[in-house]
Amino acid sequence: MTFSANKLLLFGATGDLSQRMLLPSLCALTSDGLLPDNIDIIGTARSEYTDESFRNFASEALAKFLPAGRKVDIDTFLTKLRYQDLDASTPEGFDALAKCVGPIGTGENEGLSIFLSTAPSLFEPTIKGLAANGLAPNGRDANVRIGLEKPLGTDLASSCQINDAVASAFTEDRIFRIDHYLGKETVQNLLALRFANIMFEPLWNAAHIDHVQITVAETVGLESRVGYYDGSGALRDMVQNHILQLLALVAMEPPTSFDATAVRDEKVKVLRALRPIQPSETVTGQYKAGAINGEAVPGYDDELGRDSETETFVALKAHIDNWRWKGVPFYLRTGKRMPERTTEIIVKFRDVPFSIFEDRGAKTLPNTLVIGIQPRENIRLSLMAKVPGLDRGGIRLRQVPLDIAMPDAFAGPERRIAYERLLLDLVEGDQTLFVRRDEVEAQWNWIDGIRETWGEANITPKTYTAGSWGPSSAIALAERDGVTWHE
Ligand code: BG6
Repeated sequence: MTFSANKLLLFGATGDLSQRMLLPSLCALTSDGLLPDNIDIIGTARSEYTDESFRNFASEALAKFLPAGRKVDIDTFLTKLRYQDLDASTPEGFDALAKCVGPIGTGENEGLSIFLSTAPSLFEPTIKGLAANGLAPNGRDANVRIGLEKPLGTDLASSCQINDAVASAFTEDRIFRIDHYLGKETVQNLLALRFANIMFEPLWNAAHIDHVQITVAETVGLESRVGYYDGSGALRDMVQNHILQLLALVAMEPPTSFDATAVRDEKVKVLRALRPIQPSETVTGQYKAGAINGEAVPGYDDELGRDSETETFVALKAHIDNWRWKGVPFYLRTGKRMPERTTEIIVKFRDVPFSIFEDRGAKTLPNTLVIGIQPRENIRLSLMAKVPGLDRGGIRLRQVPLDIAMPDAFAGPERRIAYERLLLDLVEGDQTLFVRRDEVEAQWNWIDGIRETWGEANITPKTYTAGSWGPSSAIALAERDGVTWHE
């Protein structure tokens, strides 16, 4: 049994994520009365702020980044904020932080949630500093937990190092690894679609599904993240986490309950069943100057200010080696500077085994299920229907969509930022939407294999024009199999 924690310690409180997502989410949660009334939010970072100036900083961030139309009580939220500066790379200063946090109660709805949104190089010293100053008590009564923002390492070895460091002070049931895609409503809806409806599960296998596509396309380029992105690339920035989590939710067996252990047990089995990628199953790209929505945008090298071999696009043909998915390819792709921002999952079913309409001149097309994650939040199932008429010249069939737009179906409930859900779950201690250590390690294991393949086969990014769907070889990757990327 866990209780809500009434203290929240935010590392990286002045950073970009904090301004864009964390502070707005916490403000919305506070205004809606979802956090404990006596919640005490302590921000910490290297910058020198007083409580007062940090509140001003937060207030400016809220003015910029709170979603339009969101009704919140900013003044009350600001009173919950305090600040303590800290250079987390050295042990000094943690005692002052501990003093600022004050005693961590062990009563009902008392405790501490810690959230690390800092450079991963600070994770280890931060954990040490917390542990040495009583901020990581592990006793049975202690209601203390820690949330970790990505990137959790750059490969399996560095990820294990981070996981070991965290595990030295926190047990796994207190570690909350964030993948913000799991906080998205449409991603959670995947579970409802699969496991709250009877009609999909009998068809959800190799006998009835031809292939699956997962696309996460972005129009943005490097933004202001040069230092991080060039050392990462699309594979590690997007596939290792978000795309593999989407894949796991699409492919997993039905869990026995909607609880953290049951759901994560099933996801990790899928991640471990991913077959190593062959050189012919991977394409990488890097954008050169082009135009998006009629606006000229520079190439990656120009944005970076030097040449680079970092991929800003990756396409993969993945296989899951288990009974359910034997022979069903999962085409995955993600890229920056694509023509539009879209995240969607396409499930292409097989054709009917025998068409009774063929000798009447009508062709059937396979059913397709499109799950729009963002910005279109919809579920579209294409079905074959008869074109009305007397059919003197033969029967005509056409594909028609059964399209459910989530915002129309659920006009009432407030649209929440993914981090609202995740921060609330962290404060309340529910791990279902967080990534377990074995999942992260299975993800890295597969990704490391791909990077080795790139090295061995000398695969380097092909250029693609900004505003296109990646290099032509990515199109060929699917078309070789008679598959067209959904656009
Ligand atoms: C982050 C990546 O994890 O996800 C970014 O580091 C990417 O490069 C972002 O832009 C995409 O998130 P969303 O929620 O906008 O799809």
